[in-house]
Amino acid sequence: MKKLCLLGLTIGLASHSVLADTKPAAIENKDAFVSNLMKQMTLDEKIGQLRLISIGPEMPRELIRQEIAAGKIGGTFNSITRPENRPMQDAAMRSRLKIPMFFAYDVIHGHRTIFPIPLALASSWDMDAIGLSGRIAAKEAAADSLDITFAPMVDISRDARWGRTSEGFGEDTYLVSRIAQVMVKAYQGTGLIGAENIMASVKHFALYGAVEGGRDYNIVDMSPAKMYQDYLPPYRAAIDAGAGGVMVALNSINGVPATANTWLMKDLLRKEWGFKGLAVSDHGAIFELINHGVAHDGREAAKLAIKAGIAMSMNDKLYATELPSLLKSGEIQQSDIDSAVREVLGAKYDMGLFKDPYLRIGKAEDDPADTYAESRLHRAEARDVARRSMVLLKNHNETLPLKKTAKIVLVGPLAKAPIDMMGSWAAAGRPAQSVTLFDGMTRALGDQASLTYARGANITSDKKVVDYLNFLNFDAPEVVDDPRSAQVMIDEAVKAAQQADVIVAAVGESRGMSHESSSRTDLNIPSNQRDLIKALKATGKPLVLVLMNGRPLTILEENEQADAILETWFSGTEGGNAIADVLFGDYNPSGKLPISFPRSVGQIPTYYNHLTIGRPFTPGKPGNYTSQYFDDTTGPLYPFGYGLSYTRFSLADMALSSTTLNKTGKIDARVTVKNTGKRDGETVVQLYLQDVTGSMIRPIKELKNFQKVMLTAGEQKVIHFNIEENDLKFYNNQLKYAAEPGTFNVQIGLDSADVTQQSFELL
Ligand code: BGC
Repeated sequence: MKKLCLLGLTIGLASHSVLADTKPAAIENKDAFVSNLMKQMTLDEKIGQLRLISIGPEMPRELIRQEIAAGKIGGTFNSITRPENRPMQDAAMRSRLKIPMFFAYDVIHGHRTIFPIPLALASSWDMDAIGLSGRIAAKEAAADSLDITFAPMVDISRDARWGRTSEGFGEDTYLVSRIAQVMVKAYQGTGLIGAENIMASVKHFALYGAVEGGRDYNIVDMSPAKMYQDYLPPYRAAIDAGAGGVMVALNSINGVPATANTWLMKDLLRKEWGFKGLAVSDHGAIFELINHGVAHDGREAAKLAIKAGIAMSMNDKLYATELPSLLKSGEIQQSDIDSAVREVLGAKYDMGLFKDPYLRIGKAEDDPADTYAESRLHRAEARDVARRSMVLLKNHNETLPLKKTAKIVLVGPLAKAPIDMMGSWAAAGRPAQSVTLFDGMTRALGDQASLTYARGANITSDKKVVDYLNFLNFDAPEVVDDPRSAQVMIDEAVKAAQQADVIVAAVGESRGMSHESSSRTDLNIPSNQRDLIKALKATGKPLVLVLMNGRPLTILEENEQADAILETWFSGTEGGNAIADVLFGDYNPSGKLPISFPRSVGQIPTYYNHLTIGRPFTPGKPGNYTSQYFDDTTGPLYPFGYGLSYTRFSLADMALSSTTLNKTGKIDARVTVKNTGKRDGETVVQLYLQDVTGSMIRPIKELKNFQKVMLTAGEQKVIHFNIEENDLKFYNNQLKYAAEPGTFNVQIGLDSADVTQQSFELL
């Protein structure tokens, strides 16, 4: 007790830190430190720590500072510079207990330097490149005084209608889990306490990607086995990698909103998985419990959320207004509040803020003279990561790479689109600093440039869509139409195309079309752009489509029309340069799809690893009474794991070291991969496993490992994969995680569809 009082006194006198003069033992012991602090806190101060507010341009800063100084706010998000955040931390240092604030932001794919969108990062299958993007994002964010990001977003998405597909890493549990780990480690560095590290809060816990029909914020209804098997592992991977935070999903799960879900937040997350970090609600989610129809007013909403274990409430005042009287009436207990406060203080401790509240804010004299200075960007890294994330879908007659001496016409609404290039959730990225495709190609061509440009089409001619996309952008509209008629623009583009040797058309979605609240019923390229493509095709000139989009699109027709298709997603600040590198062959594309491309919306979901069925369709055989749609070809247009290169690769001599595996043993699966073409290049060798017969239905195949391999022209390498019992385990209907003896097929391929197979028995 004496020590506590001393601590209180010290706090009152210390210049910055709560612990400036305390004995080292106190701060080195997190639990003791947090407990000591909590003993000094009033109820109001405790509840204040649970409040996370968004800082908007219109908000009265003086009032915010007063509230912070009164101990009524625990953290902010959306205030993202040192000069903005320092006065708030100063205010916290004026508060009675000087508990530091933390500053959060959605650093999703870069902070100032914008890297490709997460779906694109996943397309690289390159863990070093992905990790580099996260590490740089963390460093840039920390240098701007940020302590925590609401990322990585690891929601498995198998329904491309969902706009947030762009923000995740695709459809596959194994790949997304690997990336989840990489991203957490990249953000948090070797340990959280460090001026260049930020805390990761994995989101959206849980199952947000499975919203019914791909409609944002919709319900999720899912069997426990499917959850455990397919959807939960990426969150778990992030937590096992040390993620300090979890952001709770907006959706309900089997009838209970995540925000009020004690099974999810307590039984699973904390008891089963041992999570000890900070659980933050999503924006306004506690209030939305009323809309979900599980709370009749704010009071009940606050009660449900705190009882479920939501420690911090994002952007509402319900905890502040309701918790005191809920406590008084005995509807909640002091321990409910205390556990939440412990999480917040624990996270601040882990961020190093008690040791130094200004750890990431630094000294005013060290503030960057220009927040947006070019020197603060990491362009070279962004360019390299971006080109690794592009997927060559088609390359008829080696249309690509383009010759720099060719007469090229560049068309399309996305050819000069600096905002779109960054993709959605582009943090503090500035459109003015992003390289458009036109700029990138012009630079790549230098003096040899023979590049003409014609816009050819707007993003869409549907005014309602344009209005929708521009609705929330107060500063400047995101989608600006060329006022000319569609026909005039097409005519101009066709005329230019007729003079050229080759056409490059940058088509697809604006970035806002693949974003939160941007679910679509139709995954076609907008019809006016398709009219443009048709007209370009009619010129007879070789046609290269550069796709920009945040989700798989249905491109059946365009796939026929185009000679080459490069999927570039939204590739970030250096996008234009990176795309030019690929188009001109300065970089040989190596990306592979992390999500299947459906032939039509009606086929969704098209994920590759679906469960085995009783009446499967067999390609080449009549389809009657088999599981298929009779009016179209069965299977995706482009399968998971697919992607071409400017060289060719072949696989041969697949072999297993044994045809049996015992529970403690290992099998070596090997294959020879050869670069049979004329260029150096990289490919991804993928290992899939199938449990042929199980106590419950098993997927037709599941990715279990992969290696990205660089091979010079003509080179070959033997690739080895280790298979152990652990790789064969799954959650059965009783949610027991175990491998079952029997036959397993091992498939190795350069995509999920085209594989060679061998089998073994698990004894
Ligand atoms: C999103 C979250 C995001 C939060 C704060 C919400 O609308 O669902 O992913 O972190 O806003 O910006």
